[in-house]
Amino acid sequence: MPTPSFRLEADWNPEIAIPGRLAITLVNTGETPVSGFTLAVTSLFRIKPDSPIEGARLVDQLSNNHVLAPEEGFVLEPGGRWEIVAKQISHTLRHYTYGPKSAAVTLDDGTMVPPEIAPMTLKGEPGSPTIQHPERQPLPEAETTVSVIPFPAEVNVSGSGDVPEAIRLASGPDAARTAFETVSALAGRLFPQETLFGNGLEITCTEKPGLAGGGYEIAFGETVTLSAGDEHGFRHGFITLAQMLRGARQHPEDFVFPSGGTITDAPRFGWRGSHLDVARQVYTVAEIKAFLDTMAWNKLNRFHIHLNDDEGWRLDVPEYPELAEKAGWRGPGELLPPLLGSPFERHGLVYRADDVREFVDYGLSLGIETIPEIDIPGHCYCVIKALPQLADPEETGIYRSVQYFPNNALNPALEETYVFLEAVVRTLVELFPAKWIHIGGDEVADEAWSGSPQAKSMQGPNGWQGTFELQSYFLKRIQSLLEQYGKETGAWEEAALGGGVDPNRSYLVAWKKSESGRDLALTGYDVVLAPAEHAYFDMAQSDEWWEPGASWAGTVSVETCYTFDPAHDWPAEVQDKLIGVQSCLWSENLADRKLFDHLVYPRLSAIAETGWSPREKKDFARFMAIQTLMPKAGLG
Ligand code: ACM
Repeated sequence: MPTPSFRLEADWNPEIAIPGRLAITLVNTGETPVSGFTLAVTSLFRIKPDSPIEGARLVDQLSNNHVLAPEEGFVLEPGGRWEIVAKQISHTLRHYTYGPKSAAVTLDDGTMVPPEIAPMTLKGEPGSPTIQHPERQPLPEAETTVSVIPFPAEVNVSGSGDVPEAIRLASGPDAARTAFETVSALAGRLFPQETLFGNGLEITCTEKPGLAGGGYEIAFGETVTLSAGDEHGFRHGFITLAQMLRGARQHPEDFVFPSGGTITDAPRFGWRGSHLDVARQVYTVAEIKAFLDTMAWNKLNRFHIHLNDDEGWRLDVPEYPELAEKAGWRGPGELLPPLLGSPFERHGLVYRADDVREFVDYGLSLGIETIPEIDIPGHCYCVIKALPQLADPEETGIYRSVQYFPNNALNPALEETYVFLEAVVRTLVELFPAKWIHIGGDEVADEAWSGSPQAKSMQGPNGWQGTFELQSYFLKRIQSLLEQYGKETGAWEEAALGGGVDPNRSYLVAWKKSESGRDLALTGYDVVLAPAEHAYFDMAQSDEWWEPGASWAGTVSVETCYTFDPAHDWPAEVQDKLIGVQSCLWSENLADRKLFDHLVYPRLSAIAETGWSPREKKDFARFMAIQTLMPKAGLG
């Protein structure tokens, strides 16, 4: 019998219903009629649970995994089309990436056939995805500069020296030698076709303790001197020199390698980070290292790794082997079905202790501290599925998260919750040397725990009205646990709700709006700014349908990202509460790894410049002339 084959099409029409009309069509591209089948589709969209669908029954659903069946007796003939229409959708679909991401037709004998998936169209109009790096914009005429991102605090250079063949360390303290080795190896990985370090211009390194904290000075002349107060400063200085050399070599019309003068540089913020969601999709250790390399070239120094979410748990906790065996995996018959583009086979990944040590140590060697995030109490659907003892057995009713996961928040009223989290924290403390542990705290549903008798019995005696007082009790208890290990607490901004975590020994990441960070600072929290409208790389870069990404926080063009001006509207008395900035890369759309570089670069460099350069030294035209020289991770 010939193998059945299918094609899956989808079309969005925002003009037919509110928020729009989604049509999904299965085409039989094979030679035999099929009947008695179901179609499973994963996507960014979610059809509203229990909502009517034309042409199909929704026989099963978990978040964005939808299992659809035709009417009884339906036969899909060769060349035939089965159309399904849904009008109650989670949100307005704005880009092709909201559409179907993976799918399988299950035939009546149980065989699964993945259809070919066509990118979702808008109102039936043909087109194809655009995944282009923004073009280099030459500097305005008559200007020349140095090709450094993030741009240094003070550039007082003169002349245009010969472009060196390469950069060589003539002499210097141990910290300079280590930094030189690190940067020359890094450059070798990022630009394997180029010679940047080797026989050539000699750099004399000197220690200048007043320049600690990653600062450095370069004096150009007959000889070149690099001064710094610590290894970070020397590393930053060598990166600057290599960036200048590359720019002057590749675009001599715009960039010089100076013959005189000085560069005096130090970061604006101590916290210059990037987050990566390794829960929604899996990232190998090699992929993480490639990303860390590009962070280091941008002088970023904090890697926030989001280790769990409803769709996956990625850290092996030896006392709870169920996590590694079950919660890290998706697929047919697994604890989690395929979601967000994962294939219809067992698919997942869990980092063992050696994996974690490998990327943590790798980051440290590049000056990057890794901050682990365990996202609790919400976003724990797969944890509660793998460890059912973490649910109140008497709980009634269903609450759903914004991503439509049912009953996904760890219950603050159960002692078992804390037994579990002590084991998790012990693992984190053992593997992650950074002084912070991030404990999530975001997006707990307003109605969470309202059907749990144990949670209710805690609320009454304490006079607590709702979910967020319970959340505050829970987060404070975890904060105390972290303090026992000498760790400080990081969390998303919702950790201030219901009484919050203790502002001492904690920082919160403001992600909703720039202004929410100001309010947190006024409440007394140290703040890292990552406002989605500027710093979320999962947002699309234009409102074009064929531009990949999401749009719930608007469109984040390179310019929108670059022009983020942290704390410009904060009162003077709380400016010191701003400890830094970071970007966030949520992975919902990154089953297609080819999108990674397009979503991340050059926006990573834009955030890096915002975190490093003085506000008055930022210049978008200059940035656009340099950004194509910056590396990409090359994933996918
Ligand atoms: C978040 O974007 N939920 C922190």
